[in-house]
Amino acid sequence: MNILRKVVETFAHVMPDRDRDELIQRHRFLGQPISRLDGRPKVTGAAHFSAEYPVEGLVHAAIVYSTISKGAIVAIDTSTAQQAPGVLSVITHLNAPQMKVPPPFSVGDSPSSGTTLVKILNTDRISWNGQPVAVVVADTPEQAEHAASLIHPVYAAEPGVNSFEESIPQAKQPKEIMGEAPEVKKGSADVILKDSIHRVDLTFTTPPYNHNAIELHAAIAIWDGNDKLTLYDTSQFTAGTAASIAGVFGLKTENVRVISPFVGGGFGGKGGLWPYTQLCVLASRITGRPVRLTPSRAGVFRIVGGRTPSQQRVAIAAEPSGKFSTFIHEGVTAQSTDNHFPEQFSFPPRHLYAMDSYRIAQKVTEVNRVANTFMRAPGESIGTFAVESAIDALAYELNLDPVELRMRNEPDRDPVSGNEFSSRYLREAYTMGADKFGWKNRPAAVGSQRDGDWLIGQGTATGTYPVYRVVTAARLRINADGTAHVQTSCQEMGMGTETVQTQHAAERLALPMEKVKFEYGDSTLPAASVAGGSSQTISVALAVHEAADNVIKELLSLAQKDSESALAGAKFDDIHAAKEGIFRRDHPHLGQTYVAILKHAGKDFVEAEHKTGAPLETMKYSMHSYAAQFCEVRVHRLSGEVRVSRWVGAFDCGRILNPKTAVSQFRGGIIMGIGMALTEETMFDDRTGRIMNPSLAEYHVPVQADVPHIDIVYTDIADPHTPLGAHGVGEIGITGVAAAIANAIHHATGKRITSLPITLDKLM
Ligand code: MOS
Repeated sequence: MNILRKVVETFAHVMPDRDRDELIQRHRFLGQPISRLDGRPKVTGAAHFSAEYPVEGLVHAAIVYSTISKGAIVAIDTSTAQQAPGVLSVITHLNAPQMKVPPPFSVGDSPSSGTTLVKILNTDRISWNGQPVAVVVADTPEQAEHAASLIHPVYAAEPGVNSFEESIPQAKQPKEIMGEAPEVKKGSADVILKDSIHRVDLTFTTPPYNHNAIELHAAIAIWDGNDKLTLYDTSQFTAGTAASIAGVFGLKTENVRVISPFVGGGFGGKGGLWPYTQLCVLASRITGRPVRLTPSRAGVFRIVGGRTPSQQRVAIAAEPSGKFSTFIHEGVTAQSTDNHFPEQFSFPPRHLYAMDSYRIAQKVTEVNRVANTFMRAPGESIGTFAVESAIDALAYELNLDPVELRMRNEPDRDPVSGNEFSSRYLREAYTMGADKFGWKNRPAAVGSQRDGDWLIGQGTATGTYPVYRVVTAARLRINADGTAHVQTSCQEMGMGTETVQTQHAAERLALPMEKVKFEYGDSTLPAASVAGGSSQTISVALAVHEAADNVIKELLSLAQKDSESALAGAKFDDIHAAKEGIFRRDHPHLGQTYVAILKHAGKDFVEAEHKTGAPLETMKYSMHSYAAQFCEVRVHRLSGEVRVSRWVGAFDCGRILNPKTAVSQFRGGIIMGIGMALTEETMFDDRTGRIMNPSLAEYHVPVQADVPHIDIVYTDIADPHTPLGAHGVGEIGITGVAAAIANAIHHATGKRITSLPITLDKLM
């Protein structure tokens, strides 16, 4: 971290202000509500998801999951399973070849893993209830599942750490959290809190949540001899999956091809390497056949991690004006005994409010559960629940409007790092959102609105999520027929990647969108980073921008080989892409089309591959997206049933590149937040560590009837320090949602619920 800061200081003067890019202001395709290019293949069934590729000679694998959370396998009798119909192979730790543990999935300079580091099928030790202990390969999926059901290992069980609550006293401070200090403090927070007249001090809990993307995790593995592998795997990170699988099986990364153009939702659950992929590859290697492994919904609960549970304390002291005099946010999350991912719940207050004194700290405890992982806005989603609920409580303590209280604590600079904000228009977002919602009509008093047996309330909360950019490579080619081809290994998980990147490339090259082909989702293409951290759009956009500059420079020099060219003598800064070619900025009619340049030069195409530099700007500036969430709830007086009846989300996320796909992301985030607030919770049996509700029948995600009309407004103000002036929009939507709902419930009922999900029993 310190080394990076030094680099930033050294290179600060050459760090580009991206608002010099004319595309920040130009609005030909960018900023237009263009429909998804992948929409038609998806609704007509032409798009193949990972499990759907037709493969000759395909056989099927099924997993046997452990039923204890800690201990050892004493015996595992597979003889009955081996004789079951259609069975080709049964693999356990007794006969599996040695494999390596996948290298940690790291973010920034943090050794974060976010997936299990257990030696799957290479150990007799059990670390969580659900750990794969055998894999069966058979001719059909039913035969594989049946044979798997015949395997009953004998365990020597040991007492596992099955309960998060009971593990809390053992919590320790981790060395770092995503490369940041686990604790930051200034002044004597405890003394100031104790001496303050106006204060709140609340403890919050959030439960574990599991990933429930529509498309279940699935893989098909096809070996070509012993050292080449093709893998269809539902993945947010084709290049990362290829590298991890190469590491596990001792292959060269370039000999592993991971194909994953369409992903039916990821949300962080398809970022790391989870055991089903490794077992699918193993099963294929051992049987010499192409193998498909598609865990059931319950299987995904057992072997793919979800969000950590947390316990958080927020204590705030304020002057009568509302100005915060101290701010304490501290607490504990869980990680598994075989994982390192202390989820960063303490990040939001490090950047959100002006504070003269603070203590922000987090600890982590270890439990025998499936490794916790990234889930939409890890950290910020649960952290804003605690922080923004406490601020609402403080507003009542001070008799101030909750929006006004927040505005009185808007900082001029990042309160912890002291860095300048790259772009911060939270105030504007609040103004827009409050207008759209009609916040000024809200009565201040709690419990003052009623419709029959329904108590009505309105709540608000701030959302926040960092701007991340990651190193990404792209290849861009302009062909003799005037078409362009862009290639990068990035992912389309339903966010609109293909559409937005095609809009960008077309605008960048001054081509119609039909003449641009964007190719993605294949690890053999130039490597993009993980589609995570809401980083993909700007990361890919910068790689495409810089590759396009290189192609245009090359075309310019080709054109200038002809002394008669309208471009003769022009420098790169004198020209730009216009009208399907290169034209002079000062004489817009002087220039040549790509077709003319390439024809004259006798070339089929010009291409460039480019890899972007490290995101130094995120070290220099405090870079974040913001949300002002407003909602109305109706709480039944007798049953405690909560209905969310109205929502306005106001966002400050730089330039919005495609209102249609971006609004869909914001809405999706809010809907996932409604589930987080009211219905979702993974329940563990504390005696055995087993997940008790591994199905959509018992783990309640929001359905249509739970979701009101959601209005979205946004500032659309370019961030001068990001590619295209944009921020990511995938994760900000969920942040602040649970707090806005809890605050509205308090406004309706006078009850301050501090534990999620807010189920009926808590309101009766
Ligand atoms: Mo996101 S949790 O980084 O897919």
